[in-house]
Amino acid sequence: MSDQNPRYVAAIDQGTTSTRCIVFDAHGRVVASDRREHRQILPRPGWVEHDATEIWAKVQAVAAGALARAGLRPGDLSALGITNQRETTVLWDRATGRPVHNAVVWQDTRTAALCAELGGAEGQDRFREATGLPLASYFSGPKVAWLLDHVPGLRRRAELGEIAFGTVDSWLVWNLTGGAAGGVHVTDVSNASRTLLMNLDTLDWDPAILAAMDIPEAVLPRIVSSAEVYGTATGRLAGVPVAAALGDQQAALFGQACFDVGEAKNTYGTGSFLLLNTGNRPVPSKNGLLTTVGYRLGADRPVYCLEGSIAITGALVQWLRDQLGVIRTAAEIEPLAASVPDNGGAYVVPAFSGLYAPYWRADARGVITGLTGYVTRAHLARAVLEATSWQTREVVDAMLQDSGVPLTSLKVDGGMTANELLMQHQADVLGVPVTRPVVAETTSLGAACAAGLATGVWDGPEALRGRWEADATWTPRMDAATREREYRRWRKAVERTLGWMD
Ligand code: G3P
Repeated sequence: MSDQNPRYVAAIDQGTTSTRCIVFDAHGRVVASDRREHRQILPRPGWVEHDATEIWAKVQAVAAGALARAGLRPGDLSALGITNQRETTVLWDRATGRPVHNAVVWQDTRTAALCAELGGAEGQDRFREATGLPLASYFSGPKVAWLLDHVPGLRRRAELGEIAFGTVDSWLVWNLTGGAAGGVHVTDVSNASRTLLMNLDTLDWDPAILAAMDIPEAVLPRIVSSAEVYGTATGRLAGVPVAAALGDQQAALFGQACFDVGEAKNTYGTGSFLLLNTGNRPVPSKNGLLTTVGYRLGADRPVYCLEGSIAITGALVQWLRDQLGVIRTAAEIEPLAASVPDNGGAYVVPAFSGLYAPYWRADARGVITGLTGYVTRAHLARAVLEATSWQTREVVDAMLQDSGVPLTSLKVDGGMTANELLMQHQADVLGVPVTRPVVAETTSLGAACAAGLATGVWDGPEALRGRWEADATWTPRMDAATREREYRRWRKAVERTLGWMD
């Protein structure tokens, strides 16, 4: 970014539980932010929905809030970048701009049976070569198919071109650029790569998969790059170029300056997502990881990643707070867990949405094992935190098997990295140092940086690498024998989750 001509770039981070807007200055420093939560709608076990209209209202509110706190007007912004919870599926009426159903959230498992049916004799890898993904309820395509089948009259309206589909990036760009009054219907390639509908080589919708899932082309957005001016905002942000969109995990990779092959980061949010940059060609996984698009800057070649997706990590802490009432605030978990020296023999495997990487088992459900009368709420709190680091260890093992390259250190970000006990345990169970950067808001920074690149605020992504600075590093302290014994117990606990929904 130019120091002589300071300008501002805003990022909207529309996440699973909340939406934030952060305004960055010309140096990539946070100037102001605002954040609002939205409702989690849980109509049945395994179903998770959001109200897309509420999400759009929160986006507008946090954008106004962050600008007000920064003392800026929309005209002071050079660009706006969007980053978002991925896979969550919105279908809306193009004429009225209203969603035709609640958004079906990535964690929602209602399409598990449909996925099994679509897999048929070929099983869950039927579309893996084309898309890099297993057939799982996580991804958008089956969610679209489910909605077309279950909302009365929707399929016919979709075929007539009256209905638009989008992941959250698409929904927001459409609304930001005018909505029913002429909004731009696009999706960025990193989000499109999470639909199970995009071909990884052509970077376009795959006609054979659309036919297999019976999804009419008329609902689909145009796939665009992650950094280009899609359109100009109307409404509260009138005049601001909407210039980037990235799935939140890819934005974090970008914000962590993982631009080179072999660089990896893990983001700890609702779930945790470990992404390894594999360069300009997609690398297939044989060990339960996803092949996905990292980002594509304008007409540059795309950057691909291997990803280990873990559905439930931070959400388990929320569950301990909201559903069990063991803690009152998420921050309470750390002192409670630290009040005991170990987990007391207890393990919690949070297979709330089945198990994602590296298992991809829709039939798994959560378990707590190793219980004796000795176990207290403090041990349980500790086991809840440890579930995050063990799940990450499993994903790291799969990465090693796929790439043959051992991890030497791990860049981390996201809300849970404030938890020192967890970060120490993470370093312990991986056996490598874990490093958190100074700018913890890497997801928003990544989106802002991509938007700034598209509008000439930044010259190139390398500027970001120069600004990456370590804030804290945790080095492994656990001896190897303890680590392997604990890991064996964890894996036994995981085995007990499998086949529960038979
Ligand atoms: O794939 C789902 C992921 O994008 C959700 O991220 O941060 O909203 O939990 P987060």
